[in-house]
Amino acid sequence: DLPFAENYRIKMVEPIYRSTRKEREEWIKQADYNLFNLPSEHVFIDLLTDSGTGAMSDRQWGALMTGDESYAGSSSYFNLKKQVKEIFGFDHFLPVHQGRAAENVLFSVLVKKGDVVPGNSHFDTTKGHIEFRKAKAIDCSVDEAFDTNGNHPFKGNIDLEKLSQVLESYPHEQVPMIIVTLTCNSSGGQPVSLANLREVRQLADRYEIPVIFDSARFAENAWFIQNREPGYQNKTIREIVREMYELADGMTMSSKKDGIVNIGGILAMRHEDWFQQASVYNIMYEGFNTYGGMAGRDMNALAVGLDEVTSADYLENRIRQVHYLGNQLINMGIPVQNPLGGHAVFVDAKRFLTHVPKEQFIAQTLAIELYLEAGVRGVEVGTLLADRDPVTKENRYPKLEFLRLAIPRRTYTNNHMDVVAAGLKNIFDRRESITSGFQITQEAPIMRHFTVKLKPQ
Ligand code: F0G
Repeated sequence: DLPFAENYRIKMVEPIYRSTRKEREEWIKQADYNLFNLPSEHVFIDLLTDSGTGAMSDRQWGALMTGDESYAGSSSYFNLKKQVKEIFGFDHFLPVHQGRAAENVLFSVLVKKGDVVPGNSHFDTTKGHIEFRKAKAIDCSVDEAFDTNGNHPFKGNIDLEKLSQVLESYPHEQVPMIIVTLTCNSSGGQPVSLANLREVRQLADRYEIPVIFDSARFAENAWFIQNREPGYQNKTIREIVREMYELADGMTMSSKKDGIVNIGGILAMRHEDWFQQASVYNIMYEGFNTYGGMAGRDMNALAVGLDEVTSADYLENRIRQVHYLGNQLINMGIPVQNPLGGHAVFVDAKRFLTHVPKEQFIAQTLAIELYLEAGVRGVEVGTLLADRDPVTKENRYPKLEFLRLAIPRRTYTNNHMDVVAAGLKNIFDRRESITSGFQITQEAPIMRHFTVKLKPQ
């Protein structure tokens, strides 16, 4: 057997700078120990996010050149609309500038003060848009999602008991929708099974509640179904995606992930009346309904990206690279969320830095250590991200503190992954000596992690 290799070659390269530890010590201080504040030139390997950071294909770059920039009725819009219908099956489509914009437009129609929105660990912008409307996001993730040791194949699944409880406890009018995030980013890029989606749909039907899929990484989710769920091995990714979306009333999507484009988003739905109302908000917030904040060329590139991302070959390359990094860490004894997810490796910071108190931001401390050690920028998915409770204003300490290493699509080589693993190994070897973290000197009232300022404890 021959070894596995990528099914693409590289046509254009972008230099990146390998800095010294001394330089990084100065830079991170200037950035107030917030990795979002670092200029990208100060980062060697950027695993902050897989959002908008992928490399487009030659076909996508070709599609850019034929984008139609007409304000109304752009042919690029119709290309994308056709692709959305073909892949997801929705008749009604609105382009938006990114995922949170789709949330903003849809929630403007559906969510009101006092509502509750159950789901599987809502992403922070999703939760932000719910809480901003004085409604509440209720996490109904399966308990297995919070045990990084367990090997449950679908840790993104919704716990049907928890969901029933919510649907039983609140009047129908107060539950505008159930949101299922595919894959579930917050719990580690963990997939949701088709069996679970079907059961959620049945429950939703019983209570007459719509189901929305947050679709940022829908294709990666379909790949896990194909590889892990009995009965799907011989179905194509496209067939699996169609089967998934038959169970939804609508979708929001950040196309910066599985759209493999740098900016853009999708809002699509089954119901004409939602579409009419959403169109008004889209025009107000995003732009006219045939562009919604996207350039024509970007809609064209997205139409091609959706085609490429739903290929099993593409997905195998993609997820193999994430697992290439993850398996190295596992072999080094470094605690990570198991099984490995689709877009990122989530390092279990609580089990890694056992001597740092939770009040001092464990995962952020590890993120800073890794930057100093190897010039690698990951991101905290922990107490900073969890924000304060909107009512009590107390810090919310999540069950898990992760350092997320998100892998951009088609961007880095496995040599880069080797550097990341070696950097973490060095820290792991001296983890006992890391006993203190950071304290906040300045923070915003909502989504504080983007702009928070810190200093060493
Ligand atoms: N939903 C999920 C599951 C996401 O992961 C994101 C973004 C969004 C919605 C919002 O989309 O950024 O286009 O407005 N996640 C990025 C990340 C930022 O780094 O995981 P957006």
